[in-house]
Amino acid sequence: MNSASQLIDEKLLPAPSPAPVDRVSRIRFQTSHWDLDPAITFLNHGSYGAVPRAVLEAQNRMRARMEREPVRFYKVDLERLMDGVREVLGSFLNCDPSSLAPVPNATMGIASIFSSTEFKAGDEILLTDHEYQSGVNELDRMAKAIGVKVVFAKVPFPIQSPDQVFDAVMAAVTPRTKLAMISQITSGSSLIFPVGRLVPALKAKGVEVIVDGAHGPGQIPVDLKELDPTYYVGSLHKWMSAPKGTAFLQVSKEKQKSFRPVYLSSRANKIRADRELFLRDFDYHGTLDYSGFLVVPEAIAYLSRLLPGGWSELMRRNHDLIVKGRDIVTKAIGAEPSCPDHMLGTMASIILPEPPQNMKGRPSLYDDPMQDALIHNHGVVAPIWRVGGNDRRIVRISAQAYNTLDQYETLAVALVKELQAEGSLTGSSQRKAG
Ligand SMILES: Cc1ncc(COP(=O)(O)O)c(C=O)c1O
Repeated sequence: MNSASQLIDEKLLPAPSPAPVDRVSRIRFQTSHWDLDPAITFLNHGSYGAVPRAVLEAQNRMRARMEREPVRFYKVDLERLMDGVREVLGSFLNCDPSSLAPVPNATMGIASIFSSTEFKAGDEILLTDHEYQSGVNELDRMAKAIGVKVVFAKVPFPIQSPDQVFDAVMAAVTPRTKLAMISQITSGSSLIFPVGRLVPALKAKGVEVIVDGAHGPGQIPVDLKELDPTYYVGSLHKWMSAPKGTAFLQVSKEKQKSFRPVYLSSRANKIRADRELFLRDFDYHGTLDYSGFLVVPEAIAYLSRLLPGGWSELMRRNHDLIVKGRDIVTKAIGAEPSCPDHMLGTMASIILPEPPQNMKGRPSLYDDPMQDALIHNHGVVAPIWRVGGNDRRIVRISAQAYNTLDQYETLAVALVKELQAEGSLTGSSQRKAG
C-alpha cells in the first residue's frame, strides 16, 4: 500500500472520519464523500459500485491530461502510467505486477481466457449453478461453435457449509474437465465459495482454474500469491470503488506467452524487444478512455483512509453491518438465513416467498416487479433476482462505508408492505419490522 500513497495526490485525502452509525451521521458522511442521492436508500453497491467524489475528480484531472496532448498520452505516457497502476494493484493483491492485465470489465477478461484456451470438441468446462450469466452466455456460444460441454455442479441454496460447495464441484470433475470457473463470491446468492481449497484440488486433477473474483477485492482480503489460480478476474468498479470500466485479469506465468486479448489492437503485430507482448496487448486495446484504470491507485488509497483502521477495518465494518442488516430483513419477513455468517462478505441474499400464481410474469422495468415497487414506492434500491439451480427469488443487500443499519430497517418495512400487497406474505410468517 506504500506505493499507493506515493502515487496519489495528498491534497485529495481528508482525515479519516468516524464511521456513520445513524441516519444523520450517514447523510453527513455520504454527502461529504459520495455523490449518491441522499433521498434514496442505496443498498446495491454490489452491481456497479459508487465512486467517491475525490476519485472522480482525480479521473477528471487524468482526462484533462489526456486531452492536452492526446497523441503523447496514448503513444508515450500510457504504458508507463499502466505500469504504475500495476505496481499499486499488485501490492494490494499480493501478486507480481507484470502478471496483471487491465481490461474494461470482467466479462471481457473472461472472454479473453476462453479465446486464449485451445478447446476441442468434448472438452468439459466446469461451473457451478451460481455463476454469473455473462460467462455462461459465452460458453453457450462456444458449445455451439466448438462442441465443448458445459457442466454445472449443483450447489444447494440455502446452504449450511462451504464443504457442500467443495464436494459438489469436485464430484463433477471428470477426465475430460479442462477448465473450471468458480466465483470467489457469487453474484446472485452472495456466497463466499471455498476457492482456497478448490484451486489446489482442481489443479491436482489437471484442471485449469479461473477464479471469478468480480466481487472479491474490497469485500474480502485477496492474496493472489497464496490463491495461485491459473487465472483470476477481478472488478475494480465494484468493491474497490474505482470508476466504471475498470477490471483486471491475472494470468499465471506459464500461460502469459500464449495469452492474447479477445480482440487485437493495431499495436499487436509490432514486436518490441524491450516489452513483453502480454503487457503490450493489455496496455492498449484500442482507443478507449483509460482514465478510470489510471486512477485505481487513488481509489485504493482513498478507501484505505475512510476509517482509521484502513481497508481491514472497512471490510470488517461492512461485514458486521451486512450480518446485522440481514438479520433485520430475515426476521421481518419470517425468512431463514440462507447461509452461515462466515460465508458472507459484505453482501447477503435473502430468500423471498414466491408470488401467488396470478402475480407471476408481470412486466418489470428492472429485473422483477418487486424491485420496481421497492424503488418507486419506497426509494429503496436493492435487486430482486432468481438464483441457483432451484431458482429461488431473493433480495440482495450490500453494505459499503456509506450504509447504516437504519437503511436495512427501511428495506424491511418496504418489503413487508410490498410482499403483503402481492399476497405472498401472510400475517403468521412475519413479525412487524421496525
Ligand atoms: C461474479 C461476477 N462475474 C462477472 C461479472 C461481470 O462483470 P461485468 O458486467 O462488469 O463485465 C459480474 C458482474 O456483476 C459478477 O458479479
